[in-house]
Amino acid sequence: MPHSTNSHITIHKIQPPEGSAINFGAELRGADIENVSESDFEVIKKALYENNVILFKNQQSLSPRAQYELARLFDPSATGYGHGTTLDAKRSILHPDLKTIPHQPQVQAIGNGPVASFEGLENITLKHPHHKTFHKHAISAEDDRDNTRFYRWHIDAALYDLEPPRVTSLMAVKVPKTEMQNLRYDDGTGDQLKVSRGSTAFVSSYKMYDLLSEEDKEFARTTKVQYAPHPYIWMSPARSRSDGLGMESDGLELDSSSLPSIDESKIKILPMCWKNPVTGQLALQAHPSAVQKLIRADGTVIDELKEVREIVHRMQRPGIAPELVYGIDWEEGDLAIFNNHGVLHTVTGSFLPEEVRIFRQCNMAASEPPLGPDA
Ligand SMILES: [Fe+2]
Repeated sequence: MPHSTNSHITIHKIQPPEGSAINFGAELRGADIENVSESDFEVIKKALYENNVILFKNQQSLSPRAQYELARLFDPSATGYGHGTTLDAKRSILHPDLKTIPHQPQVQAIGNGPVASFEGLENITLKHPHHKTFHKHAISAEDDRDNTRFYRWHIDAALYDLEPPRVTSLMAVKVPKTEMQNLRYDDGTGDQLKVSRGSTAFVSSYKMYDLLSEEDKEFARTTKVQYAPHPYIWMSPARSRSDGLGMESDGLELDSSSLPSIDESKIKILPMCWKNPVTGQLALQAHPSAVQKLIRADGTVIDELKEVREIVHRMQRPGIAPELVYGIDWEEGDLAIFNNHGVLHTVTGSFLPEEVRIFRQCNMAASEPPLGPDA
């Protein structure tokens, strides 16, 4: 890493659009991401943990290698992709969405449409995830072009064996620009939000924590979340709530005899609150569709799945209110990096089969577990 004593990077907070109350997100200008100096990285890291989503414009020429190297600076001991090789499992709900770049396996191609050649991947067809394949109730075919949903609010994490990546980067290579869509919550509240087609939506899990009652804050600080083993296979027959924030409970999850073999030592039990390593703030951070049990401070286990999900949904739902959602209006060349321990995010939108969109995603399983509330 070249050494220099000062950085020319400047930080510009995202201006919330009319009616929005978002208090996170920043654009960083003046960074040379192919040659990040130590002082540059100090600025980038601080900006990431203070703003939770940072955006660099005009990065069209950035190599997958440099994208990987930048992600690795946040966790120099990490080497492998955040999901390991589990995406290869055909039954995983993540399997169709990500294609590994052969010469840089920590970087995945995601998007939509036919692609003749991209970074060593030849004649591939990318498929933008559509909520109708995941939600219990879908928007009707005639309303589908103008309306969309949050596909699946999540943390990028295998949640079995591997630790949740500290950061994920998303690089917009090709972006079809079309009209805006109306994002519907369809949860009886009437909530809705305008988003650009294919916007990636983020919410702050620090805000989500701050919105809790004092009683719920205490619950969050002292409770641990146990995730299902092989969660993305386990949940594969189950269907999501219409707000994308966790699953409906219809008893459809696979039982352990239908899953790959389970090593009890690899089951993930993580705090419900994760501490920001720079600001010290607490995030209410749980993957709503992968949760299986809650373990209270006194050792009591809440293991009735419907009840577990109701508790988590009640605590998280206020944090995804329309005015708290930051939806990136992607332009080609945008590189976003987000604090995967402090935000939830989701795909939105739907594309026609021929609309070509290409993104590169990079993250790495963390070298250590997330910081708990008492760290
Ligand atoms: Fe993701």
